[in-house]
Amino acid sequence: MNTHKADVIIVGAGLSGLYTALLINPSRRVMLLVKSALGESNSNLAQGGIAAELNQEKQLIEAHIDDTIKAGSHLNDPEAVRVLVNEAHDNIRTLLSLGVAFDTDEHGTMRTTREGGHRSPRVLHSGGDQTGKDMINALHRAVKTRSNIVVHEKTTAIDLLVDDGRVHGLSALDADHDVHIYYAPHTVLATGGIGAVYAASTNSPVATGDGIAMALRAGVTVEKMAFIQFHPTAFFNPKQPEGQRFLISEAVRGEGAVLRNIEGEAFMKKYHPDADLAPRDVVSQAIHREMYDTWCDHVTLDTRHLDTATLKSRFPSIHQALKNQGITLGEDLIPVAPVQHFTIGGIKTDLNGQTDMPGLYALGECASTGAHGANRLASNSLLECVVFGRRIADTINRDEKQARNIAIDVDFPSSAPYNYAPLRKKLGMIMEEHAGIVRTAKGLTKAIEELEAMGKTLAKYPNRHPRYHEMVNMIDVAIAVVADALARPTSIGTHFRID
Ligand code: SIN
Repeated sequence: MNTHKADVIIVGAGLSGLYTALLINPSRRVMLLVKSALGESNSNLAQGGIAAELNQEKQLIEAHIDDTIKAGSHLNDPEAVRVLVNEAHDNIRTLLSLGVAFDTDEHGTMRTTREGGHRSPRVLHSGGDQTGKDMINALHRAVKTRSNIVVHEKTTAIDLLVDDGRVHGLSALDADHDVHIYYAPHTVLATGGIGAVYAASTNSPVATGDGIAMALRAGVTVEKMAFIQFHPTAFFNPKQPEGQRFLISEAVRGEGAVLRNIEGEAFMKKYHPDADLAPRDVVSQAIHREMYDTWCDHVTLDTRHLDTATLKSRFPSIHQALKNQGITLGEDLIPVAPVQHFTIGGIKTDLNGQTDMPGLYALGECASTGAHGANRLASNSLLECVVFGRRIADTINRDEKQARNIAIDVDFPSSAPYNYAPLRKKLGMIMEEHAGIVRTAKGLTKAIEELEAMGKTLAKYPNRHPRYHEMVNMIDVAIAVVADALARPTSIGTHFRID
């Protein structure tokens, strides 16, 4: 067993993890643990952008707050929303100073776009539709210049070390499946969402809910797991209905694209006065209904009335990905369907990212800050990563605690090369069928029975292999989603009960 000591351990190197690490005082030793390689995260995939009202006029700030709360069906924590919106400006400045290059016009003014639920254009972007990738690349470069930040790649966090009601670090496995113990007075979970739990998702397959599952096992409060956001417009390829699906950014509708069912009807006006720019939950549920009514597994996104050259330069990666499928932006209808996209609930935190267990913080998709309510407003997620990341770093920077070794009771069996793929597939199917866009008590009850049975089988064959721990985590978080959905008989936001 190898042991390490740090002032701060951060698990996950998406926008949340990298940004927080960079804002920790350089005199502190930070260990950044990454399950795969640097760069594989959901942040990296974010196309649309980061919502931020840069004009500090009170009316405009209030409008962003109001749009966030309306999109969230008023289930948001109003204080968290105020923090999110009010602190956007300062954090955008920090991102610029860290080398993030947002797109600008010929006068050097940052370009903005609209997305669903935003009453005005306030979404900043980079590289057209490569906002996440550009941000992550810039922050990687910044991390490499900081000698106090040590990155441990291919390191899978397993469980939190809890003693005396406090988190003292965690256990982890390296690429050779050797056990490592990391001690620190501050542990930050920035492990992303749970997309891999569903058969199809826009998320990277590494999004297996690890941080949320670790928190659950340690008795830390996890909340609002029923609220899973389905993105309305993932590219639909009938030959590849499962796994990671390519996103057609909501910003394409922000630039004028229109949804049509397979009969050619532009249907969104029937569902919401803002039509194609309605909040995401409304659009996904409307598409689900249209697919059901037309006996079809997709609808289409129409950009044929828009200028091809403009679309190509505004959305270079979407253009390229569609071209690989024989589809041209501005010329062809694009087949799309909703898929799992974002985990709204998660590890409950206060306004400084602190969980209800001292020494433990959570941030980004694995956290529930209260800012998103029952449905996240488009492009508020990257904003949440930086606003609450700064607050976590500020809180840690004010604290002088030292790492403390505790007695470890970690018992890891041998690592047999079992194949968890069939179990993963079965889990995905259960979640799609029973915990998707529409839900019923009957389906959710069946799902929970099946998931618990899968969990019990898995527990009989413990294994010191990262894939085993991912599988355990996926089942734990899936049960949390289904149990919370079952406990909410009323539809609200992304949680749509049809019974
Ligand atoms: C998108 O570009 O449509 C996704 C951005 C987000 O999830 O907010």
